[in-house]
Amino acid sequence: MYVAQPITWTDRGVVMLDQRRLPGEEISHTYTDYREVARAIRDMEIRGAPAIGVAAAMGVALGALKSPAKSLNELRAEFALICETLAKTRPTAVDLFWALERMQVRFEEFAGRGADLVTIKQALVAEARQIHLEKKSTDEAIGRFGAEFMPRDGQVMTQCNAGALATAGIGTALGVIRIAVEQGKTLHVLVPETRPYLQGARLTAWELHRGGIPLTLITDNMVGHFLKTGKVGAIVTGADRIAANGDTANKIGTYQMAVLAKENNVPFYIAAPVSTFDLSISDGEQIPIEERSAAEVTHIQGVRIAPDVHAAHPAFDVTPARYIAAIFTERGVARAPYVQSLSALAAAAQPALVR
Ligand code: MRU
Repeated sequence: MYVAQPITWTDRGVVMLDQRRLPGEEISHTYTDYREVARAIRDMEIRGAPAIGVAAAMGVALGALKSPAKSLNELRAEFALICETLAKTRPTAVDLFWALERMQVRFEEFAGRGADLVTIKQALVAEARQIHLEKKSTDEAIGRFGAEFMPRDGQVMTQCNAGALATAGIGTALGVIRIAVEQGKTLHVLVPETRPYLQGARLTAWELHRGGIPLTLITDNMVGHFLKTGKVGAIVTGADRIAANGDTANKIGTYQMAVLAKENNVPFYIAAPVSTFDLSISDGEQIPIEERSAAEVTHIQGVRIAPDVHAAHPAFDVTPARYIAAIFTERGVARAPYVQSLSALAAAAQPALVR
């Protein structure tokens, strides 16, 4: 089945598929400067929590590799600036900060043992590539756990794009659907277009169509209608940050979908890697919600669709844990009470991953 490749590390630089241009054009850019990678994350050229983490790790590796630093102190100072620049790109997806922390740990590990600058740079490149590699096995494990919960046949719904484009693996929510289909389940996916940025219409519809998985595109205001009348067997979405109590931030519109799911007795599931947990915060109230440009609401693909008025654009909302039937991760399935199940999964040994 076709799997999109949103980002690749190459000898020429970091190659990214420009997701802003999909589905109309499949254009890739090669970046050789970490500031370009930061700009690409901010501008949604690459998006989706795990993919943002991979991009940030590659940005750090790129920045270190190109650094003119002559001493460890100089490299350390530049390394801090690189991490800071990448950390300021998008605030909600915790994978970004998780990936930066992994790169920082790697840096200190090699610097601490007195490695020379070339060795440190090589270790950072290897770590970024490893993070990317792990996304594939992580997604597959999430998919296998989640596929069990999908109906044998019938309709399922998702939100935004939590596919290969969003993770640099096979996808989290779409990975669950993909594996269920590969196991012989006959699923039809209802895809809300996900205003204002249209990740559903532009990206999820494209990925599912390319993968040969049947879908129906709907507008966001049809969600309630289909949950009430459309025989939806399950909803599965991704996540950008999961608080210790299970409250989950995901693309704007997810909260209303989860509430309507409960009202209509449709199980609402989250599929996300353990790197999306933020156990340092007790509940979803503390999750920073990115406010994006109002122009993304007043315009579609550069075309104005509203008068020149004030518009709001919170990019994410928080679904309270009580609406979430289960959270699929690469280490198993968490169920309420999430305070216990999430901390147990976070403490569980990482399954053997490809090195
Ligand atoms: O603003 P985006 O496109 O980065 O938002 C993406 C989402 O909300 C996804 O559902 C989430 O990151 C999970 S991706 C596997």
